[in-house]
Amino acid sequence: IIKMQDINLSGKRVLIREDLNVPIKAGKVTSDARIRASLPTIQQAHNAGAVVMLMSHIGRPIEGQYDETFSLKPVAEHLSTLLGKPVRLEKDWLDGVSGQPGDIILCENVRFNVGEKADDEVLSKKMAALCDVFVMDAFGTAHRAQASTHGVAKFAPIACAGPLLSAELDALGQALFEPAQPMLAIVGGAKVSTKLTVLDSMLDKVDQLIVGGGIANTFIAAQGYSVGKSLYEPDLIDEAKALMLKAEQNGASIPVPVDVVCGKTFSEAAQATVKSVKDVEEDDLILDVGPQTAAQYAGIVKAAGTIVWNGPLGVFEFDQFAGGTKVLSQAIADSDGFSIAGGGDTLAAVDKYDIADQVSYISTGGGAFLEFLEGKALPAVSVLAERSA
Ligand code: 3PG
Repeated sequence: IIKMQDINLSGKRVLIREDLNVPIKAGKVTSDARIRASLPTIQQAHNAGAVVMLMSHIGRPIEGQYDETFSLKPVAEHLSTLLGKPVRLEKDWLDGVSGQPGDIILCENVRFNVGEKADDEVLSKKMAALCDVFVMDAFGTAHRAQASTHGVAKFAPIACAGPLLSAELDALGQALFEPAQPMLAIVGGAKVSTKLTVLDSMLDKVDQLIVGGGIANTFIAAQGYSVGKSLYEPDLIDEAKALMLKAEQNGASIPVPVDVVCGKTFSEAAQATVKSVKDVEEDDLILDVGPQTAAQYAGIVKAAGTIVWNGPLGVFEFDQFAGGTKVLSQAIADSDGFSIAGGGDTLAAVDKYDIADQVSYISTGGGAFLEFLEGKALPAVSVLAERSA
């Protein structure tokens, strides 16, 4: 794959696809991790003397109509503040963008364009015609084969990977394909069903797989324990059993909590009670792992050479059910191993426990991060490889 760093961008029209899909409240960006992650790429292209044109989607608007709720305006303003330079938001950009070297232009939400999601060829060619060089830097959207991620890369005069995309691929590649042993994956979240393929493919690589949240509850149920009223998937108990068998066959293990923290309601005011996993009652909700389990998991983290983390252990938004995720976060922060964290909830935990500087690599990908872990090819990366072949 050609890298942006290897191309002379001076005086060139450079179209950079970033993933600036960030949460907005009342016209303001509420979490700017993705914007900050894209800054070095933008600055490098700018410093090289390019006309910098940025593309991104935000949210999932209806195609074919402008809708202010999905405008990138707050992103343009935030970006401008972070860069200390004006960023011009261009509403109508498909038929051409005028700009001088030194300009930084943000094209309005790519998903307002009909054909974006369908990876339409005519639209892709229009995008390609805007530039001399197309830079794919949106790791978070690399799993989407859409006009601004995939189609444009086929038709642009030059298509290359930006520094953020390259860094993501290097870090995730190192964790998955050259992991320092032992390797540990932590996969939390509500449902086994949405992460079944991730769990399954992780078992081909890891020595240990820690599961959290509703996923863990399904595994607890698969071991024959009652989970009361907890979130779990009775239909997936057989799959959970099969995963445990696979783990055993691969010499890996999926530790199941020995103790849990239960509440009677899912609320901030719910009283938390620590119980043995054997003592969960019919009206209990398991909302976190207990302290004994958390300490055991921290020990596993400490011994790991590689840690891949996606998903919290409990309902860490409520402090009384945050213990497991907090202990885990601290253990990852203290670890000497190579650690990678990705996904929205995981990054919220990283922020809450202020461990960002101690995690080896924080991915900007949500769905893309998971697809990478599943071993799937990311179409927006594959097309770059095809172009440089
Ligand atoms: C994400 O937030 O995971 C990416 O920006 C992709 O967004 P999408 O799921 O709407 O394609």
